[in-house]
Amino acid sequence: MRIGVVGLGYVGIVTAAVLAERGNEIIGVDVDGNKVGMLEKGTAPIHEPGLGELISRNSNRNRFSTDYGVLKDAEIIFISVPTPTSNGNADMSYVMSAVRSASNANGNAIIIVKSTTLPGTAAKIRSELGIEVVTNPEFISEGTAVRDTEKPDRIIIGSRSRKAADAVESIWSFTGAETVVTSNENAELIKYASNTFLATKISFVNELANLCEKLPNTDIDVISRGMGLDKRISPYFLKAGMGFGGSCFPKDTRALASFARSVGETTSIVEAAIEVNRKRIDRVVGHIKDSCGNGIGSARIGVLGLAFKKDTDDIRESQAINLIGRLKAQAGSIYAYDPVVKHGIDGVNMCATKEECIEKSDVVVIATDWDEFKDIAVDESKTVIDCKRILDPNRYKRFKGVGIGTGDK
Ligand code: UDX
Repeated sequence: MRIGVVGLGYVGIVTAAVLAERGNEIIGVDVDGNKVGMLEKGTAPIHEPGLGELISRNSNRNRFSTDYGVLKDAEIIFISVPTPTSNGNADMSYVMSAVRSASNANGNAIIIVKSTTLPGTAAKIRSELGIEVVTNPEFISEGTAVRDTEKPDRIIIGSRSRKAADAVESIWSFTGAETVVTSNENAELIKYASNTFLATKISFVNELANLCEKLPNTDIDVISRGMGLDKRISPYFLKAGMGFGGSCFPKDTRALASFARSVGETTSIVEAAIEVNRKRIDRVVGHIKDSCGNGIGSARIGVLGLAFKKDTDDIRESQAINLIGRLKAQAGSIYAYDPVVKHGIDGVNMCATKEECIEKSDVVVIATDWDEFKDIAVDESKTVIDCKRILDPNRYKRFKGVGIGTGDK
């Protein structure tokens, strides 16, 4: 098929790359000329395992442009533009305008919205623009985005037209995933419900980690394992740490909470999850202060990891960056290292290697769970604070791990 993709961020590029690999012809559109230029040359503009190979391998079948006009002979068009929050409210204006422009360029194609949209957005597009869209949310995680697109747990399709739903179902049939065909509104809410539920699981376990820190002989990792073996709970998203970051969970929790309020309901559990996550940074700063014998004001703090999680160069709403923001006003000096994120951060001394970062610091904080931090060597005079629980506590003399009980290491 000839498939248009509008918005070449994480979701759009990965969707395009995976569908190109299945033999489809891709026509990608984005306002960012640099990104379009890179994709035209067959290079991936983001760091994502497996993505570069797919893009370069299929470059003869892919076209990218900043001009919506190229969509004129697409059979279907995916919309994957951002839905940011402003003042806590989700902003659907990019989706509205991308749908309008795509439909102006090509009135015959089926338009499929992949962007995360509030319930009622498809109906608003229908009533304000007179355009029918299919809602087909994605559930891809950064770092495993290609695999998640090729082998998703489920495909959700919201549509009023059975014919359009069938067309979308056939595009994704190669995945073999179970498919739910439903209303646009259900599909829209399934996406928010899924993301906010996972975020809530994380905040739940982070609160329990705080409790563990007050109790002898406890360890949140063991508790998570014990809980996760119950199939009803599942082992996923029970890892305590710095709290959730990234381009989705912080934004989507805020958006759902504010959307619910706008229709006269409260999602108090989601609101609590947001608050627990916000306080995560206070907690880590508290641990750092406790470990600075002579006060944080004269301490050299080394932050290992800047990306919001491992295997990505994405620092959007990264808790590591939030931590640095808080430390700047208090710490003597801050050093940082990340294997992939290399651009400078104001007020931070960027190090070329993890060894340099450790060497220059009094307190070393693990802020991202990159595999290469799992076996760091730290001399006995320095304190290690493991906020992601990836280290073996017995290897370090001065050690603090989140969610480890009193009296234990
Ligand atoms: C998430 C969803 O997983 C995905 O389905 C959706 O499409 C987009 O949002 P992503 O933002 O890539 O994906 O990251 P994810 O792996 O879900 O992690 C989000 C944050 O939660 C990260 O900061 C991560 O470190 C944190 N996290 C995750 C935990 O602290 N504990 C966990 O157990 C899992």
